[in-house]
Amino acid sequence: MAMQRIDKLLASQGFGSRKEVGALLRAGRVTVDGTAVRSGETKADAERQTVAVDGKVICYKEFIYLMMNKPAGVISASNDPKAETVVDLVPPALRRRGIFPAGRLDKDTTGLLILTDDGDFAHRMLSPKKGVDKLYEAVLDGPVGQAEAEAFRRGIVFADGTVCLPAGLCVLREGENPLVQVRIREGKFHQVKKMFRAVGRTVLALRRVQIGALKLDPALQEGECRELTEEEKKFVFEVQKAD
Ligand code: URA
Repeated sequence: MAMQRIDKLLASQGFGSRKEVGALLRAGRVTVDGTAVRSGETKADAERQTVAVDGKVICYKEFIYLMMNKPAGVISASNDPKAETVVDLVPPALRRRGIFPAGRLDKDTTGLLILTDDGDFAHRMLSPKKGVDKLYEAVLDGPVGQAEAEAFRRGIVFADGTVCLPAGLCVLREGENPLVQVRIREGKFHQVKKMFRAVGRTVLALRRVQIGALKLDPALQEGECRELTEEEKKFVFEVQKAD
């Protein structure tokens, strides 16, 4: 990492706005290699030097990547004056870095959501051209079979003429309210719900379980999040064979 202004560096790591960081500096609470620095203009390289706030060494990360098990009832946005957002569920120090959800799940959809402050990563993950499949499990209001799977495979056309890319559909549990798995590559608004509506079915519950080869960690309770490992970050872009 190149040298950069200490106030910019600390702000990027979630220590507050440039103004708030300025106050930390003036109070002598920031050290670089053990020496207090009081000017925001001082340059430092957090990967080569030891930067500490209140004696606690900061662990510099250029970007942050979180896996969340999204609960129902919160919206996929960074902030909202009225509704609770997924970013509200993230610990404050990480929230201050300016993270956002990479893609949206509907308010009532649960499951795997990635939050990051890395715009390029989010774009690569979401662009259909990059071939990252998203896997959902849905509970339906009635049975589906070969005909619906074939329609998904050919590419569903919505009532307004919008054509979807070919998608995968398989039944995981038969019954009056079957549990099905859907594999899609795009993220059109209400896509899965609309695809089922196009074949005469209603989605009663929807959960995202996988992005690329990255599976939702079963240990994460709804509403919880944790950082992705380096390996998991790569899993996102690993092409999976359809089941
Ligand atoms: N498709 C939907 O209909 N809703 C979601 O939240 C995600 C995909």
